[in-house]
Amino acid sequence: MKTTILILGAKGMLGQALVKVFSEDTLYTVLAWDREDLDLTYEEEVWKKITQAWPDIIINASAYNFVDLCQKDEEEYRKAVVINTRIPSLLAEISQELRAILIHYSTDYVFDGKVPRYKGEGRAPGCCGSGCMGCSYFRKDGIFDGYREHDRPQPLSRYGKTKYDGEMEIEKKTDQYYIIRLSKLFGKPAQSEYAKKSFFGIILEKGRKQDSIEVIDDEKSCFTYAPDLALATKNLLEEETAFGMYHLVNEGAVTWFEAVQYLFEYTGLSTKILPVKASFFTRDAQRPSQSILLNTKVKLLRSWKDALKEYLEKDLS
Ligand SMILES: NC(=O)c1ccc[n+]([C@@H]2O[C@H](COP(=O)([O-])OP(=O)(O)OC[C@H]3O[C@@H](n4cnc5c(N)ncnc54)[C@H](OP(=O)(O)O)[C@@H]3O)[C@@H](O)[C@H]2O)c1
Repeated sequence: MKTTILILGAKGMLGQALVKVFSEDTLYTVLAWDREDLDLTYEEEVWKKITQAWPDIIINASAYNFVDLCQKDEEEYRKAVVINTRIPSLLAEISQELRAILIHYSTDYVFDGKVPRYKGEGRAPGCCGSGCMGCSYFRKDGIFDGYREHDRPQPLSRYGKTKYDGEMEIEKKTDQYYIIRLSKLFGKPAQSEYAKKSFFGIILEKGRKQDSIEVIDDEKSCFTYAPDLALATKNLLEEETAFGMYHLVNEGAVTWFEAVQYLFEYTGLSTKILPVKASFFTRDAQRPSQSILLNTKVKLLRSWKDALKEYLEKDLS
């Protein structure tokens, strides 16, 4: 019998990748819903429509992602609370009622950047051994910087707090869940006209128009390619991995500046890149200066550089 999987936020950057990866597999019946199918702010409707569909698995890829806007604007903040906290809570209740598995996504912005230090052995836990970038965040003294799945969040921004509260609601209300933290998602932009573009897409556009470009060099974290995350999500399910919290990002931690250096080098752009501190830009929400997510539980994803090459060839061409 086929497994029915409901994907919410199906037209988003991650949602589209999830729909693709599950639809290509004949074992699944995919219900791909976005705002026009079900507006998640109408709670009664959410309960009614999802229980009627009775999926085996609910994947919540819906999101409120305007980090700065919800920091300064009360109305926007209320929207962020509904989508990032209230809806995950409701979906957890529904999943528990239906005995469905809930998959939900969160962010590195639940952390404050004051990273705890761990003794490592020169290799990341679960290292693939293939020489990918996975162990690049280990320092020579054997200590590595980064957040493990069970480290305690301490969000710096309202956005981070709404996401952390969403995580806690799910943990409280259902026992069959996967919460997956990711950072700096890139891939095909969401279909809505308000959708945020990928960082790499925006920077390439700018780089082609300008002689020089300022890029932040004191915030370090990982990138996540949407198709890689979608596939890793499917693997979590199919390998019957234990329920709980996961960190799934492409391997190799870099600053924005280092990422742009590689992007321009690979695409042959000669635009000058000027490293600047985060304070150079006026942003309403504070970001962690270091929010490397360590995947200590499952197989590491490939390096962000390999993922970026595929993105440039497939998604931007
Ligand atoms: N993007 C990143 O860099 C990043 C970083 C860390 C974590 N994440 C997490 O990754 C997950 C996926 O993010 P994403 O970047 O793929 O999001 P996205 O591209 O913004 O897509 C979100 C989708 O949710 C839909 N949605 C929003 N409000 C809705 C509502 N009230 N009813 C129904 N649908 C609604 C959106 O529709 P509309 O377009 O019509 O609003 C959109 O299709 C989220 O949990 C996010 O927090 C993302």
